[in-house]
Amino acid sequence: MIDPECWAEEFPVRKNIIYLNHAAVCPLPARTAAAVAEVAADYRDWGSTHYERWSAMVARGRGRLAELTGADQCEIAFVKNTTAGLMLAAESIPWRDGENVVVADIEFPANVYPWLNLRRRGVTTRFVQARGSFPTVDDYAAACDDSTRVITSSWVQFSSGQRTDLAALSQLADDVGAFFVVDAIQGLGALQIDVSKLGIDFLAADGHKWLLSVEGCGLLYVSQGVIGDLEPFWRGWTAVPEPTDFLRYDQPALDDARRFEEGSPNLAGIAAMDASAGLLLEAGPAQVEERVLSLTERLIARLRDLGCEIASPTDPQCRSGIVCFRCGRASSDEVATRLAERGISAASRLGVVRLSPHFYNTEGEIDAATEAVGEIMAEISSA
Ligand SMILES: Cc1ncc(COP(=O)(O)O)c(C=O)c1O
Repeated sequence: MIDPECWAEEFPVRKNIIYLNHAAVCPLPARTAAAVAEVAADYRDWGSTHYERWSAMVARGRGRLAELTGADQCEIAFVKNTTAGLMLAAESIPWRDGENVVVADIEFPANVYPWLNLRRRGVTTRFVQARGSFPTVDDYAAACDDSTRVITSSWVQFSSGQRTDLAALSQLADDVGAFFVVDAIQGLGALQIDVSKLGIDFLAADGHKWLLSVEGCGLLYVSQGVIGDLEPFWRGWTAVPEPTDFLRYDQPALDDARRFEEGSPNLAGIAAMDASAGLLLEAGPAQVEERVLSLTERLIARLRDLGCEIASPTDPQCRSGIVCFRCGRASSDEVATRLAERGISAASRLGVVRLSPHFYNTEGEIDAATEAVGEIMAEISSA
């Protein structure tokens, strides 16, 4: 079991605030902030003199993300964010007119607009009706037909914390002959995954939540099993075997996920991804998951004791790092605001309060946050 005190120096945020908002934007670990500062200082003092060193860092970061996801290094591309990764997947699938995408109507919009945008190519988006419920694999199956070419889902739903059964949904995609595309931003870094065993075709996530990295630099996993079926709709000068053979325009696109890295890399962002992925690997993905789930279990128990209504699944198979709840008459916006006034970072989403601790948070922080929720409920009910 991870001892959060051993990680205290990496998370100076703990000195300032009780940060239970990793499902929004994470605080940076000390080593990650230092890695970004090092890149900036090197550019400042040396220009591109040490570029080889930075290229090695990019390769190391790619390797770490591959290790964290169970992918091969060549199946990982650095992309701008989750949306960019999902757009690349959407646009490179060789669609036929009349085909459809199946997606739940509770998805974060990052995993909706890239599919709706395919209307111009004759592709329909079919929504699984899931508002007010936790969608099941049967719900997805009911929305599929012979023309379903993609099934897509968040690994963890942003507004409920429901953890999707990726293995079962992947099996459904296989059964109907569809690509399986995962928005992983609310799971990756908190929960363990092995894409090689799950039959996932594409998986995208930005760094700024559970991966403990910065906004605007993420990853796209593309399975080697599907890369040959895709349309290389996007060509860039670095995505060829010899990018510095500048005038040889007849080079083919790389035949792996790196073909989606079109030009100069976001070195500062990748330095952050590399450092944070290193930290998560050091802590151990299994241990991180165990600790996150133990903290959310404690949260659920404490909130129930206060009489809050838990709006997240509580079945261990479906839980995640996100706990959503309602506090009787108190609006979620008001509770989140009053928590912030007490130095506790939470979020309000679609009428529920959302708390999302990471592995370095302490039991004491969970207890302090739930005590504060109790006080706020008492204040509001006596007002
Ligand atoms: C499920 C989900 N997907 C995607 C995003 C963000 O997408 P992007 O990384 O493109 O900003 C969020 C939250 O910000 C989210 O909760």
